[in-house]
Amino acid sequence: MHDADRTPSRRAFLDATGGALAAGLLAGCTSDSTIRPDRPVPSAAATLAPVAATGRHQAGVTLPRSAQRNLLAVVADLGTTVAPGPLLAELGETVRALTAGSDPRLLGLPPGDLTVTVGLGPRLVRTAGAALPGAADLPRFSRERIASGARGGDLLLQICADDPLLPPVAAAALLDRAGDRVRERWRQSGRRGTDVPVAKGRTAPRNVLGFIDGIVGPHTAAERERDLWLAGPASVAGGTLAVLRRMEIDLTRFAALSVAEQEAVFGRHRDSGVPLSGGTVASGPELGAKTPDGRYLVPVDAHVRRANPTVVGVGHMLRRSYSTDEPAPGLLFISFQNDLRTFTATLARMDASDALLPFTTTTASASFLILPGFDRQHPLGSRLFD
Ligand code: HEM
Repeated sequence: MHDADRTPSRRAFLDATGGALAAGLLAGCTSDSTIRPDRPVPSAAATLAPVAATGRHQAGVTLPRSAQRNLLAVVADLGTTVAPGPLLAELGETVRALTAGSDPRLLGLPPGDLTVTVGLGPRLVRTAGAALPGAADLPRFSRERIASGARGGDLLLQICADDPLLPPVAAAALLDRAGDRVRERWRQSGRRGTDVPVAKGRTAPRNVLGFIDGIVGPHTAAERERDLWLAGPASVAGGTLAVLRRMEIDLTRFAALSVAEQEAVFGRHRDSGVPLSGGTVASGPELGAKTPDGRYLVPVDAHVRRANPTVVGVGHMLRRSYSTDEPAPGLLFISFQNDLRTFTATLARMDASDALLPFTTTTASASFLILPGFDRQHPLGSRLFD
């Protein structure tokens, strides 16, 4: 970054005119009066509403309300003699500086809606308490082809932003701060397609299979208290549990199906997201509904039937997945829930017969305790390790 870029005049210019310029750009106004080659045009990130890094919960789970378009998940291990408490506190400080735009390692990029969500793997959680939520490892499931380096890990940095440049730059800053106390284990980037409105004030993106993904979940405050956020013990209250699964998808084989066959795999219409049993995109599938000749409208092996929380007997998980193209097309499935069984019981039921699973191979897998929110007075991780 050039020194001139740090001068107050440039910042003052952006502050004073960024909104007006953005409004002009968004309105499609490109007249000479709004874009001048001698003046910097704010990037999209400069005009996005910032997401507070501090509070009762970490950002990047329910905030921002529509997940940002780009993600980088970095999973690292801690050296065996590293004390987690000070490291987490320092990472929290760096997260605050990055999201405030005051960390020079951002190289002058406006932070926009950048969020960093920090999680702890089971090994580290066990050092704080063997019975704590997040202390248990994920079991193995079918259709896994996971190299040992892509299973588990001590530390998750989930970094999301609308600006695709920000996640790798923020990751480099965080890893720099951690220094030789951590060793990177695996990383995965992902993107989300255009958001589609699915209910009042709620959107969900399409995934690489063309289907709207992320419709059902704990969306009301009451559902989130019940199924998403950990209520206790005090050291983890306000946190949650994350599951990450990189699932490669055989796109060629899926695309060879007719649209009706593709819809039967999921149990929803591809175009609209409406369940095959009818209603609106926001409706839950009516699993008992049948055709006049007695066949279920939502087939017995449809994904939405196999994964239905009531049928599985678990709470709702908040799915915040990203599509991938490296190392192969697929989905970085990400779910947040306050009970690991919500995930494990669902996948166990899918494993038995889910029309979607034969198109997938899982190549990375991990679970994390997402630490409760933090602020200046209560550093990240302090309730667990102080
Ligand atoms: C390649 C992998 C996957 C893809 C492409 C995928 C896609 C979808 C889509 C399109 C829907 C329907 C719309 C919605 O409610 O969002 C859905 C629903 C759902 N999925 Fe997945 N999914 C995948 C893997 C998983 C896994 C591994 C789990 C958990 C173990 C899971 C759990 C759920 C749940 C709980 C629902 C809501 C079911 C309902 O109540 O209607 N999915 N998924």
